Amino acid sequence: MPGKTAKRLTKPLLRVLAGETLSRQPWWLMRQAGRYLPEYRALREKAGDFITLCLTPEMAAEVTLQPIRRFGMDAAILFSDILLVPRALGQRLSFENDGPKLEPLSENEKLRPLDLAMLAPVGEAVARVRAALPGETTLIGFAGAPWTVATYMVEGGTSRDFHRVKTYCYRDPAGFAALIETISEATLAFLSLQIEAGVETVQLFDSWAGALSAAGFERWVVGPTKQLVAGLKQRFPRVPVIGFPRGAGLNYERYAVATGVDAVGLDTSVPVNLARERLQARLTVQGNLDPVLLRVGGPPMNQAVAELRQALGAGPYIFNLGHGVLPDTPPEHVAELARLLSN
Ligand code: CP3
Repeated sequence: MPGKTAKRLTKPLLRVLAGETLSRQPWWLMRQAGRYLPEYRALREKAGDFITLCLTPEMAAEVTLQPIRRFGMDAAILFSDILLVPRALGQRLSFENDGPKLEPLSENEKLRPLDLAMLAPVGEAVARVRAALPGETTLIGFAGAPWTVATYMVEGGTSRDFHRVKTYCYRDPAGFAALIETISEATLAFLSLQIEAGVETVQLFDSWAGALSAAGFERWVVGPTKQLVAGLKQRFPRVPVIGFPRGAGLNYERYAVATGVDAVGLDTSVPVNLARERLQARLTVQGNLDPVLLRVGGPPMNQAVAELRQALGAGPYIFNLGHGVLPDTPPEHVAELARLLSN
């Protein structure tokens, strides 16, 4: 970067986030730590409960490191969850077999001030992982983007249609803006804690960015993300931010231009040629192998991997999936992917 006296970057993932093109593209996988790994399932059973696993530093660190030991990805992603933020704002949270459950927030319901101490174990896990990671491996921290976290808080869990949260947006935009502001401040504090403890880049998961109208996308995705990125850059100017506005479709370009993120995660549906011309010309791109192809493995996966690298490998590119690893993915397919990506 011109004029910067920053230390020379040596880790492949950080180099690509700074805009370099590498002939061997770095890779990691969303949900790379999780149920498809038998060693994860064993520790999950021992912990008993998912939140205990997230908030016990030894265990969270161990789970973070499991995929790195097996497959040697270029980055570890901290084992945690986006819903720890609503929990630290006083909302009751549990994980049941059909996903997360929160006590749905009513319009204008008051939240508690953020209890940062409830998130302190996450910082301890970060420090443990950093101490154990190979020197070339980057540690990624993360949080949910405000809109996606708000959907869980208002719907009380994963939603199919987002009627409740969208009703809130349309009926009481000022009240909803106040909720988004509360979440944004808490998220900035949560990410700052992770960065101070040792994560080297952060990803903002906006998993439900695709649920909004274009006007809603501008107001509830672009605006809050831009503000959050600016807050992070003010405190940590050298920490790159990856944005993942899943399902944004034609709004991807607006997101890439307007939010200030250093890299954009492509979901499975984004056409790679369009990504190369409209997005990669401006910033680093990451993605977007269909997670089902990783589960299928063999020639269909190998061919799709080759096509992706062909399409995006001439610019700054981080290989990843278009969404998280599916729980019934054979670990051998990830090992095969690691071999494909090793040169
Ligand atoms: O390896 C990694 O990517 C790091 C860990 C990670 C988890 N959650 C662990 C997890 C990350 C990055 C997340 C982010 C997250 N959490 C998102 C955004 C990404 C996405 O998938 O869109 C969302 C929406 C959540 C909220 C959440 N947590 C849901 C909807 C669920 C249930 C779905 C499921 O897969 O069971 C969780 C639970 C969860 N978070 C698990 C894991 C490994 C499964 C828990 C278990 O062991 O049963």
